[in-house]
Amino acid sequence: MAHSDRFLLAGVMGWPVMHSRSPMMHNYWFKKHGLAGTYVPLAIRPENLTAALRGLHPLGFAGVNVTIPHKQEAMKIVDDVDALARSIGAISCVVVRPDGSLAGTNNDCYGFIHAVKQEQPGWRADAGPIVVIGAGGGSRAVCYGLAREGAREIRLVNRTLDRAKEIEREFGAPIKALRWEDRHETLEGAAMVVNTTSQGMVGNSALEIRLDKLSKSALAADIVYIPLETPFLAAARARGNRTINGLGMLLNQGRPAWKAWFGIEPEVTAELRAMVEKTIS
Ligand code: ATR
Repeated sequence: MAHSDRFLLAGVMGWPVMHSRSPMMHNYWFKKHGLAGTYVPLAIRPENLTAALRGLHPLGFAGVNVTIPHKQEAMKIVDDVDALARSIGAISCVVVRPDGSLAGTNNDCYGFIHAVKQEQPGWRADAGPIVVIGAGGGSRAVCYGLAREGAREIRLVNRTLDRAKEIEREFGAPIKALRWEDRHETLEGAAMVVNTTSQGMVGNSALEIRLDKLSKSALAADIVYIPLETPFLAAARARGNRTINGLGMLLNQGRPAWKAWFGIEPEVTAELRAMVEKTIS
C-alpha cells in the first residue's frame, strides 16, 4: 500500500533486462498518479536471484516483476505462491509484505488473454485447435489462460519435448505435447498460433517455422514485443494472417501488479501504448 511519506520502489528482475520497457510504463503511472516513486531494471544473474529477492524488503521495495529466465526459479524462492501461480507453475510478480515475507503471483495469463480480447474482440478460445510454441514460464501462463478460456485442443511444441510433456502432465486435457520437428505440420487446421519462445526477440535468431500449412484465417500471436513485429509475425502478416504482438500482454500484466504493490489499478491508455511503441523499432 502507498504511504505518502515514503518513496515508492518497484522494479523488474531479469537477465538480460536492459531492453525491458516495464520501467517506462510504470514510471508513466507514477507520474500520472502524482506519486513519488520509481521502477528500476534490475539485472540479476540466475545465481544471485535468492539474495536479490531477499534484499527487496530491507531496501524498501514494494515488489518486483520477474522475467526471463527467472519465472520458474523465483516461484521456488518466495514464501507464498497463490493458487493461480501454483497452477501455472511460474510467477511473474512478487509482492513484499510488511513483515518482509514474499508473495508470488502470476499476471501473465491475465495480460495475454486481455490483450487478445482487446485487439481481436470476436476472438474465441474454442474456435479451433491452438498451436503454442515454447514451454517455458511464458508458455505456461499462455496455455493456462487459453485452457481456462475454453480451448479444446492446444498443440504444444517445444525444442525440449520433456518440458512440453511436463505441462501436458500437469495441465491435462486439452494440452497435447508434440515434437519440435513436427511444428510446421501442427499448424494444419489451427485457428491460432502463439510464439512463447525467445526466438525473434532482439539479439536472438528468428523462430524457424514454415507457415504454408497455416490457414489464412488463423490468428498469429507473439509474446515478444521487441521488435514489435518479429520475423514470425511479419511472415504471418505477409501471407494475410491477422497478428497480435507482445506489447498488449506487457501493458496489461502491469495493471494487477501495480494494484498489488500500490493499491491503485492504473489505466493502459492509448498515450501510454504510443509512448512505448515509439521507443521500439
Ligand atoms: P520464460 O520463462 O520467460 O518463458 P524460459 O523458461 O527460458 O523463459 O523459456 C524459453 C523458451 O524459449 C523455451 O520454450 C525454450 O525452449 P527449451 O525448453 O528447449 O529451452 C525456447 N527457446 C529458447 N531458445 C530457443 C531456440 N534456439 N530454439 C527453439 N526454442 C528456443
